[in-house]
Amino acid sequence: MAVLFKMPVLLGFFVGLMVLGLASSAEFHELFQPGWANDHFIYEGELLKLKLDNFSGAGFASKSRYLFGKVSMQIKLVEGDSAGTVTAYYMSSEGPYHNEFDFEFLGNTTGEPYLLQTNVYVNGVGNREQRMNLWFDPTKDFHSYSLLWNQRQVVFLVDETPIRVHTNMEHKGIPFPKDQAMGVYSSIWNADDWATQGGLVKTDWSHAPFVASYKGFEIDACECPVSVTTDEIAKKCSSSAEKRFWWDEPTMSELSLHQSHQLVWVRANHLVYDYCTDTARFPVKPVESNQSIESRIRKEEMGGYMALKGMHVGQC
Ligand SMILES: *[C@@H]1O[C@H](CO)[C@@H](O)[C@H](O)[C@H]1NC(C)=O
Ligand SMILES: *[C@@H]1O[C@H](CO)[C@@H](O)[C@H](O)[C@H]1NC(C)=O
Ligand SMILES: *[C@@H]1O[C@H](CO)[C@@H](O)[C@H](O)[C@H]1NC(C)=O
Repeated sequence: MAVLFKMPVLLGFFVGLMVLGLASSAEFHELFQPGWANDHFIYEGELLKLKLDNFSGAGFASKSRYLFGKVSMQIKLVEGDSAGTVTAYYMSSEGPYHNEFDFEFLGNTTGEPYLLQTNVYVNGVGNREQRMNLWFDPTKDFHSYSLLWNQRQVVFLVDETPIRVHTNMEHKGIPFPKDQAMGVYSSIWNADDWATQGGLVKTDWSHAPFVASYKGFEIDACECPVSVTTDEIAKKCSSSAEKRFWWDEPTMSELSLHQSHQLVWVRANHLVYDYCTDTARFPVKPVESNQSIESRIRKEEMGGYMALKGMHVGQC
């Protein structure tokens, strides 16, 4: 689904559409296919449901791989007792030095809040977990979960609100995922050895099947045929004089001021764990944790900065 716009006017128009969230969504089968446990898939019109029971979970994968762009889907998580279950939604490349961007929704007992764990793997190395609760009950309605990925940043979005940014800090010698095409995946499985309250609460199979529902699949990204080499992919998916991808526009290279404020709000009110500040695990702070969006906010808005001062807002 590569988009090649040559005219700035057209580009502005389409960026406008994206911002308004009007990018058209596709049927599940246009973009994805079941990865495992076909018999745990339920198709109901535009809805797809994945089922976890004591025989199996289920998972699906995109038919193509992509390098840069935006991927979204709307998910409604397991209602009622979801303790022990994990619903994951992620992008990943393959191989021992793979890159991966994860949303993992950790279930809970009835009435207790889901946790959203995010992680970023670069060249096979993860250990960059963040955990947060959400400002709504993700089991009651569909909400959109997106990944925006370009040469400058990876942004995790919930209903278009940024909840995490992984910034390109190659200038500090930190590798950034920009060479490997990634597939898009989702699955539901039993993880009661760790998911809920650190593994204390086990899956209650008398409440199975556990069902996660999906709709509104959108992929607006540079598509990479499997047969194509890494070099060719990098060339195809980089903006150049002849073609300009919307995600390479200057406005996409960092969060807008409004988005920066949203991220500050999310982190202040909903973040419950951040590897950046876990000194037991990382006595030496990860280098990427040292960055803050305060300086950016300060640059743009001297007045409001004082209110944010003192609040550490790592970008990692
Ligand atoms: C489940 O609920 C408990 C109690 O409210 C909370 O401490 C925990 O963070 C919640 N989420 C998970 C995944 O354990
Ligand atoms: C799965 O759960 C059902 C209902 O609780 C039970 O009857 C069945 O024996 C279980 N199957 C397996 C393989 O554990
Ligand atoms: C983090 O930033 C502080 C202040 O800018 C600097 O003194 C320190 O060396 C930095 N640490 C790392 C690990 O980059």
